[in-house]
Amino acid sequence: MNEYITLDVLRYNPEENSKQIYQSYEVPFRKDWVILDALNYIKDELDGTLSFRWSCRMGVCGSCGMMVNGEPVLTCAKFLNTFHPGPIRIEPLVNFPVVRDLVIEMSDFMEKLESVQPWIIRKDEDTPKGEYLQTPSQLMDYKNYSMCINCMLCYSACPVYGLEPRFLGPAAIAIGQRYNLDSRDEGEKQRNTVLSEEEGIWQCTLVGECSAVCPKDVDPAAAIQSLKVSSTVDFFKSFIMPWQNR
Ligand code: SF4
Ligand code: FES
Repeated sequence: MNEYITLDVLRYNPEENSKQIYQSYEVPFRKDWVILDALNYIKDELDGTLSFRWSCRMGVCGSCGMMVNGEPVLTCAKFLNTFHPGPIRIEPLVNFPVVRDLVIEMSDFMEKLESVQPWIIRKDEDTPKGEYLQTPSQLMDYKNYSMCINCMLCYSACPVYGLEPRFLGPAAIAIGQRYNLDSRDEGEKQRNTVLSEEEGIWQCTLVGECSAVCPKDVDPAAAIQSLKVSSTVDFFKSFIMPWQNR
């Protein structure tokens, strides 16, 4: 006999109702299905109006993040089995405005990401073209932060971002630090003016949930703490060695 499991999905359609409401769906309980498979079953077989984002189905694109039983997760990476016998509560990522159903508005994150200048900055426009080799150790300096897939789970897990939406947030800071630590980059000083301003690293109260929920084992909490240390050192150096500021 086929077994079913219930998904309680938080729906929102601003054209029909100003409130979010839960809608329950029975989906086949298959041990090889992830949550995203169950949502696609709803979309294909039960209710084509359900809206959600996804693309790669393999934990790479970062677009399928949702709250599952109150935890921010990638729905393509969580098996239905984990939540048996259900019901399973599916909601949009918290701390973001909802566009429709499980789709959140991402522009705040995109603006913050751009503000940290997530690209290699060089002072010298005449930098030689061609290969710029790095040692394995130089690569390891920033590799962890380069694994970020911009899924925004860390923003949903961060209580500081929940209370203070102006906070730059875990991923934008980790990605800024990724470029700071790249031996090819020379933009640390200008990037750090953004990272260490009022809405930057000093807002973090070291809860650490950002690192705990990250599906790619990025450690934004470590990036923030190391930036706090380097920023403090730079502050004192600016008094002891003022000529370095020029
Ligand atoms: S740091 Fe981790 S949780 Fe945050 S956006 Fe990047 S991959 Fe997602
Ligand atoms: S669908 Fe791409 S990360 Fe889940």
